Amino acid sequence: MQIQISNIAIDRQQADCAIVAVYGGGKLSAAAKALDAAAGGLISRAIGNHDIKDEAGELLLLTETGKLPARRILLVGLGNRDKLDRRTWTKALRNALSAVARSQYRNVVLHLTAETVRDADAYRRARLAVETWQSVSYRFTAMKSEPGEPAARLEKLSLAGSGRDDAAMRRGIAHGGAIGRAVALAKDLGNLPPNVCTPTYLADRARAIAKGNKKLQMESLSLATIRKLGMGAFLAVTSGSAEPPRFIVLQYKGGRAGDQPVVFVGKGITFDAGGISIKPAGAMDEMKYDMCGAATVLGLMQAVAELKLPMNVVGIVPTCENLPSGTATRPGDIVRTMSGQTVEILNTDAEGRLILCDALNYALRFKPAALIDMATLTGACLVALGRVRSGLLGNSDKLANRLLAAGEAADDRAWRLPLDDDYAELLKSPFADVANIGGRDAGTITAAKFLSRFVGKTEWAHLDIAGTAWNVGSKKGGTGRPIPLLMEFLLNRQP
Ligand code: BES
Ligand code: MN
Ligand code: ZN
Repeated sequence: MQIQISNIAIDRQQADCAIVAVYGGGKLSAAAKALDAAAGGLISRAIGNHDIKDEAGELLLLTETGKLPARRILLVGLGNRDKLDRRTWTKALRNALSAVARSQYRNVVLHLTAETVRDADAYRRARLAVETWQSVSYRFTAMKSEPGEPAARLEKLSLAGSGRDDAAMRRGIAHGGAIGRAVALAKDLGNLPPNVCTPTYLADRARAIAKGNKKLQMESLSLATIRKLGMGAFLAVTSGSAEPPRFIVLQYKGGRAGDQPVVFVGKGITFDAGGISIKPAGAMDEMKYDMCGAATVLGLMQAVAELKLPMNVVGIVPTCENLPSGTATRPGDIVRTMSGQTVEILNTDAEGRLILCDALNYALRFKPAALIDMATLTGACLVALGRVRSGLLGNSDKLANRLLAAGEAADDRAWRLPLDDDYAELLKSPFADVANIGGRDAGTITAAKFLSRFVGKTEWAHLDIAGTAWNVGSKKGGTGRPIPLLMEFLLNRQP
């Protein structure tokens, strides 16, 4: 698939479809005007006939285009021109590109990128066009014998610009492509069934990402090494499973040797049955998505390497299954973490924090400039924030504010929850240094409070993506979140 900036005069542009904007009150965009003039008033007649409503996101396909070299025109309503913002524009863009994804068009010219949008400059419009195309054309058919609906056939997508913004648009296309591919990778890993997407499989995919790239090193620690390192909490989670665990470390060196890295840690539970504290059967299949934090890390490392970002980044993935068996951890067991702290495991279903506490402690050896973990950690986060915003917690206002702002800019939003010391009371254990659960109250906060004990004074943030990493219902599937948020954060850090 080729994505390029279009420089040809609109009425001379060959295409299977030209996508142009119309505004409320029957007003034509500049592109629509030019086409209308060349096609003898075709568009103004359709509008005069009220064939397209005034609302933003409305579509009308014109299949008779007279002498125009574009074989079809897709009109896209953008609503009130003076009020056009990124939200409305993106929604209309998504509708239009979804129609293209369902068609068999090979060559499409998108003029929406040339419109003026209050809070989206040329860079952002180009990037969103590419990301949105990747998103609407995504299919997961790896496990089907017959692919079903035919895949999109688009070979060339041309983005119209003003001619003055080519450099910004080229950057937007590159960033959008890398982010879109990272999101698709994370969706695939999430959607794969848990008998395929095992810890070994994740390690193989991580190896494939690093392969042939001198700036990217991959290590996969196996059970013996995890034991040697003393990761007693991680070992407690994997102990009920026959599937071998992995501790994956990807190191990207795009900055100077001494530059402190950004370190990402992702929860990689490839299936969470709850262990001995077993979950109820309903919707338990969704716990194949309990490795979406890990998928985020792999997607990020792939995108960072593809864009050759001038910084050091480390990605860490502790990955195993959480199953009940005769060798599984019992409620009441006390284990020693790599940090030396002991943990009383009162509920084996609170396993994410157990693998993460050892991974966060391991991460400190890289002396992170910022340490960020992503985890489908608590059902409580879904109760608090639904599927709209990810939960954000951490020990640094500066880091938290940067992440919140990145989420707004990338339309991949988060909301901060508090971490007052008073919450630590809930995690007290009479027998060990800390318990792994804090009771019913403030479940998302006590989980993060538990993690905070393992990061020392490092600037750290935690994203609880239990509500945002996958969709349920008719759109069931991985979302690739919070990759857009975190890529925005990294791109903002570039010198
Ligand atoms: N992976 C789950 C959290 C989860 C549940 C995410 C449902 C998305 C949807 C996690 O390992 C878990 O089981 N958490 C428990 C913690 C509790 C035992 C303190 C939970 O949220 O119920
Ligand atoms: Mn669990
Ligand atoms: Zn879990």
